Amino acid sequence: MGSPRWRRLCLLLLAGLTSSLILYGHYYATVEAPTSQRLLPPRRPASPHPGGRPLAALGASPSSRGEPPALRTPALGFGPSACLHSVTARAKADPKFGQLFRFDIPVLMWDQHFSPETWDRLKARHVPYGWQGLSHAAIGSTLRLLNTSSNRRLFDRDNFPGGCVRCAVVGNGGILNGSRQGKEIDAHDLVFRLNGAVIKGFEEDVGTKISFYGFTVNTMKNSLIAYEEYGFTQIPQAKDLRYIFVPSDMRDYVMLKSAIQGSPVPEGSDKGDEPQKYFGPEASAKKFKLLHPDFLHYLTSRFLRSEIINTQYGYLYMPSTGALMLLTALHTCDQVSAYGFITDNYEQFSDHYYELEKKPLLFYANHDMMLEAELWKSLHRAGIMKLYQR
Ligand SMILES: *[C@@H]1O[C@H](CO)[C@@H](O)[C@H](O)[C@H]1NC(C)=O
Ligand SMILES: *[C@@H]1O[C@H](CO)[C@@H](O)[C@H](O)[C@H]1NC(C)=O
Repeated sequence: MGSPRWRRLCLLLLAGLTSSLILYGHYYATVEAPTSQRLLPPRRPASPHPGGRPLAALGASPSSRGEPPALRTPALGFGPSACLHSVTARAKADPKFGQLFRFDIPVLMWDQHFSPETWDRLKARHVPYGWQGLSHAAIGSTLRLLNTSSNRRLFDRDNFPGGCVRCAVVGNGGILNGSRQGKEIDAHDLVFRLNGAVIKGFEEDVGTKISFYGFTVNTMKNSLIAYEEYGFTQIPQAKDLRYIFVPSDMRDYVMLKSAIQGSPVPEGSDKGDEPQKYFGPEASAKKFKLLHPDFLHYLTSRFLRSEIINTQYGYLYMPSTGALMLLTALHTCDQVSAYGFITDNYEQFSDHYYELEKKPLLFYANHDMMLEAELWKSLHRAGIMKLYQR
């Protein structure tokens, strides 16, 4: 399954496009792209990808360089649970994944993390893994608002007495078209969705429940443009819905602050945007979660260290939003099922489940979908999560 990777790599990459340019039709190319890049020439691999990179190679030398000291975060929800076949237990028992998973790493970031030590560590790394070039005052003023208990954990274990917290993470892959998995998805305790998560008209296939919606401001806004024609006209809103910000750029910190304050974005590329338009009128600090840049760094270096990192565009590389949501669930839930994620037979399916005509999966130069595919397959085989395949 290796060679199609480069052949099919779509090089529409992207960005430095202003949002107005994006509005004029470059949106397909930018949906999953970070924001701070200039238009790039097509990337040509120096040599064909030799196919599956063994995960063991990733885990063989997990570098502790740059990783944060473990924070004890009992609030995060891994306390002793009554769950027999939990992700944690399975991962720890697995020879390969036992070396990769660190369940003491902070998944979320909140006000107390904004210390001089964290600033010094993170300002040495570029986004999304750090704060290089970002303003101390702006980061600080955002993080100070993340001061509620719900900013410190993804969910409250007390709401799930006596058992496993079962999570479904729903990607938007074409494999879900006609899958009739909706009931099964909704039967999970918590359901994660992301980016262009079209629900209307696809309830039988993808369900309706939504506990978390994950995005970067860039992917969120581009999804609204690119998938509007398929009915994605509104970011999901509901009373109990929580938003998971992926801090891929300054934009995300700025939007998050405005969202909590309920005021228009004062500066930057989203200047004038009304966050209520996306997140609804009753947004307050407790509605929002922010992934910790150290968590993104840890995930990338241990689970999804792509060879793209070693190319001249390596600084653009990051795991896809779907990958980040799935890995977030794997570090917080007791049991995890993945739906709509890339599988070996992806060529049989459309890019997304809601397209009217089959479109080939779009590969972005800043993601490594084949590496992600291999990780999901491998986690499924190890019994650590369940990957929906057909
Ligand atoms: C959180 O911060 C806000 C804004 O500074 C403040 O009004 C609020 O009282 C703080 N809440 C807690 C629980 O400290
Ligand atoms: C979705 O499934 C239906 C029924 O199997 C099929 O006719 C249609 O072409 C599929 N759509 C896409 C975009 O693949």
